[in-house]
Amino acid sequence: MTNTGVTNTGVTDTGVTNIGVIGTGVIGAEHIRRLTTAVPGARITSVTDVDLDRARAVADSLAPGASVPATGAELIESPEVDAVVVTSWGSTHRDYVLGCIAAGKPVFCEKPLASSSTDCITILEAEVAAGRRYVQVGFMRRYDPAYLALRAAVHGGSLGAPLLMHAAHRNPALPAHFTGDMVVTDSAVHEFDLIRWMFADEIAAITAYTPRRNSRAKDGFPDPLVLVLELANGVLVDVEVLANARYGYDIRGEVVCEDGVAALSESAGVVVRSAGTVALGVPTDWPERFAAAFDIEFRSWLASVAGGEEPTGPDAWDGYAAAACIDAALVSLHDGGRVPVTLVDRPSLYRP
Ligand SMILES: NC(=O)c1ccc[n+]([C@@H]2O[C@H](COP(=O)([O-])OP(=O)(O)OC[C@H]3O[C@@H](n4cnc5c(N)ncnc54)[C@H](O)[C@@H]3O)[C@@H](O)[C@H]2O)c1
Repeated sequence: MTNTGVTNTGVTDTGVTNIGVIGTGVIGAEHIRRLTTAVPGARITSVTDVDLDRARAVADSLAPGASVPATGAELIESPEVDAVVVTSWGSTHRDYVLGCIAAGKPVFCEKPLASSSTDCITILEAEVAAGRRYVQVGFMRRYDPAYLALRAAVHGGSLGAPLLMHAAHRNPALPAHFTGDMVVTDSAVHEFDLIRWMFADEIAAITAYTPRRNSRAKDGFPDPLVLVLELANGVLVDVEVLANARYGYDIRGEVVCEDGVAALSESAGVVVRSAGTVALGVPTDWPERFAAAFDIEFRSWLASVAGGEEPTGPDAWDGYAAAACIDAALVSLHDGGRVPVTLVDRPSLYRP
């Protein structure tokens, strides 16, 4: 397939942005479906995966006509790709993101930005050297209507200064390939970003606690895990991460302020009154709970790409700051105690 009429804004002159997707597993397929059905102005022109059969099957069913190059590096270089979505395993993100920056192409990278804060610093340095931001990280909770309403309430002026927050991240169960550390790197990482965004401040220190173990937990699994996060401005946040909640996917948040309390509402769904009870639905898993957030996230990303502008969502600094929190949380989990979160100086490319 050739890409005719591509302008220097990264969008074809027909107003459609050509997108390549690297990694066609669960969320890669979800995002391809989203970009082809729920986000106007996107065309999937190329997909790939280390499992090329999977990539071909996903292309056939969700993006007929998309090319399937043998490697992610080929996809990034392809003239039929204007912008890239990276949805492969976290350990592979760094090289793909660096490849996109080198090619001068916008890249939406699912979390984590990279598997270590050191690798994230390499990405920051590449963007600073390029003189502009190309990277958006997939922290979709920032686009969730419920979280946006909570943030607006907290900063609306009527509740006074925020003092502390209680948060819970309850998974019905975790995929079989999850390791104990992934409770931090893949689950709690969402809270690290969300809390930085909610309070517009950095997390200064983290302490991990492992209460009585869930009898359903795999050996060596911190389930449940409680993380206490101290923000630089003194706000304290406790985060419960439950790997085997079983009853559903339940994301909770309550912010205690000087003059009141604001919390995520119980359910966005229907309320059923029957047989002497009032029942609210609980989402089955993350694709259901955050469907609207993902849609809004991609519409926002595509608008910046189509306009040839820097992305407005979570950037490489946010990906780095979350990785630094992961480092601290894992040290506390394995060695115990309160662990400070250390950050390099923020380059001026990344506005606070
Ligand atoms: N934002 C969210 O809430 C959210 C939810 C789920 C997953 N994720 C993130 O998305 C990423 C993918 O997760 P998933 O659940 O789809 O995993 P998955 O295992 O279902 O899919 C990953 C795919 O990447 C492919 N892959 C692995 N290495 C590759 C490489 N070097 N090049 C190309 N393809 C490669 C695998 O073959 C697989 O098909 C992870 O980083 C995960 O943390 C984010």
